[in-house]
Amino acid sequence: MKKFQNKSELSLYLGALRANGSSIGFVPTMGALHHGHLSLVNKGLSENDFVVVSVFVNPTQFDNQEDLVKYPRTLDEDIILLKTVSDHKIIVYAPTVEDVYANSVTSQSFTFDGLEYEMEGAFRDGHFDGVGTIVKRLFEIVKPDNAYFGEKDFQQLQIIRKLVELHHLPLNVVGCPIHRASDGLAMSSRNTRLTKEHREIAPFIYKTLNTAKTMFGTKSAQKVTEWVNNQFKKQPLLEVEYFIIADIKTLKPVKRKSTRKSYRAFIAVYAGDIRLIDNIALN
Ligand code: PAJ
Repeated sequence: MKKFQNKSELSLYLGALRANGSSIGFVPTMGALHHGHLSLVNKGLSENDFVVVSVFVNPTQFDNQEDLVKYPRTLDEDIILLKTVSDHKIIVYAPTVEDVYANSVTSQSFTFDGLEYEMEGAFRDGHFDGVGTIVKRLFEIVKPDNAYFGEKDFQQLQIIRKLVELHHLPLNVVGCPIHRASDGLAMSSRNTRLTKEHREIAPFIYKTLNTAKTMFGTKSAQKVTEWVNNQFKKQPLLEVEYFIIADIKTLKPVKRKSTRKSYRAFIAVYAGDIRLIDNIALN
C-alpha cells in the first residue's frame, strides 16, 4: 500500500495516475478506522480507479482540547484494516500538522448559507470553520473526482456540499448511509472509549430514533421531541444535549410539517464524557 506523509510527494504521485487517465476517489478521515469508514472506501473503490484515504486528526475542528488529546491515533491498525479492502488501489495520506498547516494552526472563517449555525455548529464553537478549512485544503491537495462522506455526520455532509457549491470546487460529493453495529449503535471512533456500561446502553439512542420515526408519521415534531426527551430522562447513563427534527436542506428545526419537505431527526448524547451523535431520515 502506498503511504504518504508529505503533500508534495502525494500530489506528484496522484498527478502521474491522473495523467494515465485514472479516476481518483477520496475519503477524508481522522483515523481510528472502523467498518463505517470502510463502507465509504468500498463505495469509492466501486466508482474510481484509486481511492485516497487521508488519516489526520484535525486540531482546528476540536472545540474541546481534552477530546483532541484523547482522540484515538491508531495508524498501524488503520493500515492493516485498509489492506483487508485493497492493497493496490488505496493510497494513504497521513500528514503531520505542519504538512497541512505550516506554522499557523488556525481555521479560515466560512459561511455556509446558515447551515453552520444549527446543531453541531451551535454546540461546538468553530467546529465547521475547522472542518471547512481542512476539507478544502485536502481537496486542493488530492484533487479528487469524487469525495465520500457519511450520513453519520449529516450536517457535515450538507456543509461540504455547500462548500463545493459556493467555492465552485470541481468534484462530486457522495453521501453514504450510516453503518451500524449489529445492536444498532452507529459506528464511531469514539465508541472504543465508552465504558462497558455505557456501551451496553448506547443502542438505546438508535432504538429511540426508530420509535421517533414511527411517531412522526402521526404526531407533530413538538410531540415527538417531548417524548424523546422524556425517554432519555428515564435513562441515567445517557444525557441528551439536543434532539432536533429539521428540514434536511436548511437544517432548521421544523415548525409545521409539510408533505413536500424531507426531515431528519438529529441527536447528540453524552454517555459519561463521550459525546455520541446519530440521526435518522423521518419521511
Ligand atoms: P471521521 O469522524 O473520521 O469520519 C470520516 C468519515 O467517515 C466522515 O464522512 C463520516 O461521516 C464517516 N463515518 C464515520 N462513521 C460512520 C458510520 N458509522 N457510517 C457511515 N459513515 C461514517 O468526519 C470526520 O472524520 C472529519 O470531520 C473529517 C471530514 C475527516 C475532517 O477532518
